[in-house]
Amino acid sequence: MADKLRAYEGKDITVTYSLRRCIHAAECVHGLGAVFDPERRPWVDPDQAPVDELADVILRCPSGALRFDRKDGGAAEPIPEDNTVTVAADGPLYLHGNVELTLPDGSVHQDTRVALCRCGDSKNKPFCDNSHLKAEFKDASVFQKVMVKPDTNGGGALAVKPARNGPFLIQGPLNLVGAEETVRGAQAALCRCGHSNNKPFCDGTHNKIGFESE
Ligand code: FES
Repeated sequence: MADKLRAYEGKDITVTYSLRRCIHAAECVHGLGAVFDPERRPWVDPDQAPVDELADVILRCPSGALRFDRKDGGAAEPIPEDNTVTVAADGPLYLHGNVELTLPDGSVHQDTRVALCRCGDSKNKPFCDNSHLKAEFKDASVFQKVMVKPDTNGGGALAVKPARNGPFLIQGPLNLVGAEETVRGAQAALCRCGHSNNKPFCDGTHNKIGFESE
């Protein structure tokens, strides 16, 4: 299904918003309530704050639903030097970095901020759509047996490929952040069926439960 992007024009900046990518992390509403007001129509008014401040708040949107395009010559969103995959307790994988995500149609989506489903129930796979709440997905994000191949080649992009009916195959330098530790590595297979007994890593359970996803 195609993404629905809405654009909100300000004097010095255009803010775009993806309804399908938004998982209501609410960094925007809490960060700049004058600009982002869900009770108002339109709910985004870019001229209600200094443009630098607005750009900073948009960069905090963990799903990448909010983006900006500056018209005042100010800096565009930087591509982070480090790739980070944060395993949210009872929630998605938050990716931040130079991300190259392969989509079901085979195209590669480049991004800096992405929230990926790891409960298996999202209707917008590979992206999170908050279905983990309804599914009452539980995982404390505490690593048991760490399965990450060591980092050997320094910097670079993080390639993320959702295997058909299987895990996210992740290749590239990354910091994998859990509730109690951060592991540095370069290759991992992360569960996206929601049923691994060694979360966040895939342990093959997707085969036993008949997980299906492009
Ligand atoms: S994708 Fe969940 S166990 Fe492999």
